[in-house]
Amino acid sequence: MSEIKPVFKPNREFAKEARIKNICEYNELQEWAREDYEGFWDHYAKEKIDWIEPYHTVLDESDAPFVKWFDGGKLNVSVQCVDRHLKTRKNKAAIIFEGDDGDFRTITYLELHFNVNKMANLLKNEFGVKKGDRVVIYMPMIPEVAYAMLACARIGAIHSIVFGGFSSEALRDRIEDADARLVITADGAFRKEKPYMLKPVVDKALAGNTPVEKVLVVKRNFEEIEWVEGRDYSYNDMIDRQPVECEPEPMESEDPLFLLYTSGSTGKPKGVQHNQAGYILWAQMTMEWVFDVKENDTYWCTADVGWITGHTYIVYGPLAMGATTVMFEGVPTYPDAGRAWKMVEKYRISQFYTAPTAIRVLHSTGEHEPEKYDLSSLKVLGTVGEPIDPPAWEWYYEVVGNSKCAIVDTYWQTETGGHMISPLPGATPIKPGCATLPLPGIMARIVDVEGNEKEVGEEGYLCITRPWPSQIRNVWGDEARYRKSYFGDVKIDGKPVYFTGDGAVYDSDGYFTIIGRMDDVINVSGHRMGTAEVEAVINEDEDVAEVAVVGRPHSIKGESIFAYVVLLKPLDDNGPRDAAYVKKHINGIIKAEIGNIAMCDDIVFVPGLPKTRSGKIMRRILRSIAKGEAITQDTSTLEDPSVVQAIEKVVKGS
Ligand code: WT7
Repeated sequence: MSEIKPVFKPNREFAKEARIKNICEYNELQEWAREDYEGFWDHYAKEKIDWIEPYHTVLDESDAPFVKWFDGGKLNVSVQCVDRHLKTRKNKAAIIFEGDDGDFRTITYLELHFNVNKMANLLKNEFGVKKGDRVVIYMPMIPEVAYAMLACARIGAIHSIVFGGFSSEALRDRIEDADARLVITADGAFRKEKPYMLKPVVDKALAGNTPVEKVLVVKRNFEEIEWVEGRDYSYNDMIDRQPVECEPEPMESEDPLFLLYTSGSTGKPKGVQHNQAGYILWAQMTMEWVFDVKENDTYWCTADVGWITGHTYIVYGPLAMGATTVMFEGVPTYPDAGRAWKMVEKYRISQFYTAPTAIRVLHSTGEHEPEKYDLSSLKVLGTVGEPIDPPAWEWYYEVVGNSKCAIVDTYWQTETGGHMISPLPGATPIKPGCATLPLPGIMARIVDVEGNEKEVGEEGYLCITRPWPSQIRNVWGDEARYRKSYFGDVKIDGKPVYFTGDGAVYDSDGYFTIIGRMDDVINVSGHRMGTAEVEAVINEDEDVAEVAVVGRPHSIKGESIFAYVVLLKPLDDNGPRDAAYVKKHINGIIKAEIGNIAMCDDIVFVPGLPKTRSGKIMRRILRSIAKGEAITQDTSTLEDPSVVQAIEKVVKGS
């Protein structure tokens, strides 16, 4: 690696106390991992995890890409996150919950223990949930969602959280794919001081045939809901009578812990499976290294538990390390753009973790808001989900962080379970918009399809060349899809390696800059949408003959969805079936089938799509047109090159 030319060096005072204090310490750790990969992981697995039974093998790759970490070991993730802290931190705040209206409550580790054990007993004794059963969780951001996750972990049930913004159809698909018997939900919650509802979505998802037998409902907003006798049960009525001790199930290292559905470039969302030991180990290690949370710190991640960030960095990571984690029900811009900073001041937040989209919103709606609050408690600022543009980064660094906080631009994915490439706040000199270096133990490289290393400045495939503990273990019920989605594209020395789907580039310091998805995946506000998935839904519209969707750069959301639609019959411009009507109808279907996040910002009606003679849609051309760029691609291989001008004309006129 060439000499590092820092843009911003770590804060010296901070670095003195940090777990990894300088770039030499980072290099030594990475060197250790490179030379003795298993020894490195063995050391941390022994140091960090409270084993019920020790493992006999650190890493078993004999059936790669299906790997086993810490085989033979037994543990319980709820013990790792709760019980083991009772010795030293029983009265420390585990969760600080702030409601939408600003009310708050603190749940200590001892209280968390009661609540998790009671919920575990409820699931086990009242519903007969057993080890290996799938439980779907469709809940708002309230502490009970953490109790539900940890209760599942305690009894060995596999949870599958579905983000509360997904529609009943999306929920039904996920319930069916996982074959879940129980759904845990809430009546609803509050947003901008108004109640919103979740239970009606569950009712709709369960209409007709479903594997679900029981629904456990947490009452949060106490709005009126429909109640199906014999199916629906009230958490609030049942929880008090549960015993406060539930024996934790000893789990094998490689028993599944949870499923989380995410979009790919083809087909329906896939159930990313994470297992016990490796996942919790890396969740805890990255929490400690990347956020460097200290015993008296208060840490806040603004994600929703419905995404992997909420799993690893609101619940599992912080609790595994015994930190205080803030959980927020509301939105950071309500009642005004100072809400987030007001909360930082109120709880003296030390580490704040959010998405570039949120930073752009907070910047554009309240550029000077941070100056009105005392943000001196902040030490580390994190971002995740998409590349952060330098103007947003600079505002975050200078105005929010007062030019003294490290910015950790954390690159990772649902499939990686935890951070992969990120600065270490006390060690890594940072540059705007750059994820910097792989974390110790992570072997990342940028290569071409044959596995040849890319030169500085050349875009290539971002790959992880060795298995890591928190990697995806399988696509639920579909081993072939697991192989094909992640190990099908790139080989190094003839051996398939994990390809992230992202393009990246090395700079002259060997730093990694993430460019973005190389597959047909759109990143809307840091959330992944598959083009195939959105197109399949739009195709259901009776007016639609053909459709192609692409991502278009968006100043707040990063990317928005742009749809090119070929209609079956012409619009009636002055009648009821005009363009506005059809567009609204298409977005209505998307909202019903997937949810608001997949709605298209742009829908244009075009005479045809640019296809090759073999029928493949040339999305690059469509992406360029959506961006308003001149077409530089060769269009001579198209079946009908004239369609490109026709599309350009429509887009320019729209
Ligand atoms: C995709 C993963 C990881 C939790 C949130 C999203 C993009 C993620 C960064 C970053 C540039 C990033 C990638 C990745 N991404 N973090 N720091 N810089 N791009 O999880 O839905 O699984 O999406 O988000 O494209 O593949 P996800």
